[in-house]
Amino acid sequence: MNFVSPSATTGKVAGQFFTPNHVAKSLVSWVVRDPLDQLLDPSCGEGAILAHHSRSRGVERDPYAAWVARERLPDTNIDNIDFFTWAADTAERFDCAAGNPPFIRYQNFKGLSKAAATLICQTNGVAFSGLSSAWAPFLVATSALLEKGGRMAFVVPAEIGHATYAVALLDYLLASFSKVQVIAIREKLFPRLSEDCWLLYCEDFGGKTEAVHFSKVDRFEECKAPPSSEAHNWADLKRDWSGRLRPLILSSAARDAYLTAGRLRGALRFADFAKIGIGYISGANDFFHLSPSQAAGLGIPEEFLVPTVRRGKHLGALPIDDDTIARWKAADEACLLLAIPPTGDLPPQVTAYLDTDEGLEARRSYKCRTRGSWYSVPGVIRPDYFLQYMSGADVKLARNDCAAACTNSVHGVQITDMRKSTIALSTWEAPLTKLSCELEGHPLGGGMLKLEPREATRLLFSPDREGDELFFSATEIMRTWRHLGGHAPIGR
Ligand SMILES: C[S@@+](CC[C@H](N)C(=O)[O-])C[C@H]1O[C@@H](n2cnc3c(N)ncnc32)[C@H](O)[C@@H]1O
Repeated sequence: MNFVSPSATTGKVAGQFFTPNHVAKSLVSWVVRDPLDQLLDPSCGEGAILAHHSRSRGVERDPYAAWVARERLPDTNIDNIDFFTWAADTAERFDCAAGNPPFIRYQNFKGLSKAAATLICQTNGVAFSGLSSAWAPFLVATSALLEKGGRMAFVVPAEIGHATYAVALLDYLLASFSKVQVIAIREKLFPRLSEDCWLLYCEDFGGKTEAVHFSKVDRFEECKAPPSSEAHNWADLKRDWSGRLRPLILSSAARDAYLTAGRLRGALRFADFAKIGIGYISGANDFFHLSPSQAAGLGIPEEFLVPTVRRGKHLGALPIDDDTIARWKAADEACLLLAIPPTGDLPPQVTAYLDTDEGLEARRSYKCRTRGSWYSVPGVIRPDYFLQYMSGADVKLARNDCAAACTNSVHGVQITDMRKSTIALSTWEAPLTKLSCELEGHPLGGGMLKLEPREATRLLFSPDREGDELFFSATEIMRTWRHLGGHAPIGR
């Protein structure tokens, strides 16, 4: 979440978000134990959090937001500076911290700020992958400025419950505080932000713990202390759920049943019988995908055209077969990939197309100019199945009965063990498999579910149907939490 010049009346302008007053007040009233406590907000925006405690220090990179905060809170110390470069140098220490750090994606988190953040994290023994969002190093760098015994409480993205890099953060927090509590909130704290936000409360800096405290609430009400929680052993969470907290939304009965199903004889993970990967990246989709009428007009020979699945929405429960392709062709859809070998002579019709204005434009795209032969799309495989990457209710898996290829909007599944695959995939519609998609995948916002190849390899299949009722209702719960609006009930 980033915020540059918000309007105090609306709370959100052009993707910039304030912490709602009841949340700001709750965070501050818990972290501050004594009126003399010194509070830090490392990304204070217009001062929504600082406003609740007079002995505060704010840091804010955006000049306009820092200016508004200073106007609003003239007696508060507010620096208009990048937090990480400031934190790397400051000798100041704080009794507590509260905030709502920016959720800046890794692509946009760069330069001196990222270098300082990386150094601070390294100094504190945390190595985040390059894919981490900025909020995670914000928490590490903030905690490192706390006095022993200090508290901090933050708004965090719900991806603390599933992102791989959140495991490194939780490792650090558990080794640095006596109590770490995550509060999952079903109703959106920021209704217009696609990403859900949860809260994190950390107590007694300098201590350590082996448990994560987890609470789940439908909505967050103003409170002086975090809601009651259950303690979960972190080593167990890492062993059973790869360190994901999201499954804790479910009852322990549902979680135990899922784990038991995974241990039963006959249970299989997708990786036991298949390889899953993304489809090809053409680098210039409009150029490399032709409709039948375009291909005919250009005179492109048949052997240079491969039928292809371009989007997940083209997948249904039925196989992709010659009839499917015939329907797409009849509708003159751009469903033919121009597949050219990297070497060898090309027919004049193909070279003529490569030399059109569109071809000259396409070869300048990043992907095209960084591969050996710009016109030869690499990684074109004909998988055994297509699997949806992003889905609404049910994740679609469609058999490939016509040697079609697929773009990177869809996963290609290549079967490595036919016997196991036949047994496992016969349960694709079972409640356990559907629950598995919810637990191994992650919410994308807007009610969508995303399944990365790594997550898909963990999908669980079992011939045992004993837990169907439980898995069915658990799936419904997970879908409610990812805000799947008006979804069709799952099939049994
Ligand atoms: C989600 S807003 C939160 C603002 C405020 N704490 C609140 O709760 O309303 C995040 C703020 O972080 C600021 N920010 C982003 N990167 C920063 C950085 N490296 N150092 C300091 N502030 C930063 C943004 O300008 C934005 O005002």
